Amino acid sequence: MQREPFGRLDSLPALRTNILPFCRLKAGEIWRDPLKGHRVGALDAGKAEDVRALMKSADKDSQEYSQLGIHDPPYNITVGGKKTRALFQTDTAGYTTFSRAWVSAALSALDTNAALYIWLGADQNAGFQPLPEFMFLMREFPELQSRSLITLRNQRGYGTQKNWMAVRQELLYYARGNPPFQVVYTDIPKTLKGYYKEAGGRKTTNQERGNADTIRPGNVWVDIQQVFYRRQENVPGAYAQKPLSAIERVIRASSKPGDLVTDFFAHSGTTLIAAERLGRVCRTMDIDPVFAELTIRRLEHLRATGKTGWQTENPFPELKNYKV
Ligand SMILES: C[S@@+](CC[C@H](N)C(=O)[O-])C[C@H]1O[C@@H](n2cnc3c(N)ncnc32)[C@H](O)[C@@H]1O
Repeated sequence: MQREPFGRLDSLPALRTNILPFCRLKAGEIWRDPLKGHRVGALDAGKAEDVRALMKSADKDSQEYSQLGIHDPPYNITVGGKKTRALFQTDTAGYTTFSRAWVSAALSALDTNAALYIWLGADQNAGFQPLPEFMFLMREFPELQSRSLITLRNQRGYGTQKNWMAVRQELLYYARGNPPFQVVYTDIPKTLKGYYKEAGGRKTTNQERGNADTIRPGNVWVDIQQVFYRRQENVPGAYAQKPLSAIERVIRASSKPGDLVTDFFAHSGTTLIAAERLGRVCRTMDIDPVFAELTIRRLEHLRATGKTGWQTENPFPELKNYKV
């Protein structure tokens, strides 16, 4: 069976060094999409000036505002092994300082009526940090209303022998002002039958009353397939890729066609791909030029082939002779 062309970029510094010469953006630079107006920056989400540069209007000296922010910062948790322990990990106070900086910058890019979604985790081996600290931090921004705490269930987890298998990812949803919200549905058929109520003067079943044959996702999402090498959307080298269907669900529910969507931690570029497929315009960045490049290439690959990722193909064919 065909496997991925190389391993996780975070644990292979030599691979990163080999890829860097093929990255079109240097730190501080922005790629502007000539077709649909998306932007990808090699920028730092914690720097207000970087966010301003990304959101600057093309023709005037003013800035644009997004109607939806979907941000997936590093969780301050080790992902899949000790090798990556040092990457982005800091003490809880340091993580809160970083979070305050990027959330403030992200808010400066948001419209007066806008939705803000943030992916986060809780380290069960370290007092569940940084989830509680982050939730308290968000109360420092009174213009934000907490709306929902969504849990996405992964199919594969860790720690199954001596603990409950860890399969959850948290998604916090906040609103500024009065953003739109569109009801969306899963593909899971309704199984609850015989729930009667009076409607229009007669007794009706819940099946008759409903608008759809399938259930709504609610705030526990159990129907989304995790990304791995058997999925077309897989991006080799990425270590924290979110499923496209999760991001598309958020975009469908919380924005309208033509809206601006921001994501300041692009990584494999999932939000950009979802925005492209759903007719929104995306402003995204990653501090690492390698992930900024992967994000741009993924969009180009989608446009050239219709594919949402590379599965087990190599996104950097320039490196075909590279051996890990
Ligand atoms: C959890 S991943 C995002 C995953 C993404 N949602 C996806 O589906 O591929 C976090 C990303 O944030 C980037 N990052 C870390 N610190 C950053 C910063 N200060 N500014 C911008 N990006 C940063 C990392 O390089 C990494 O690619």
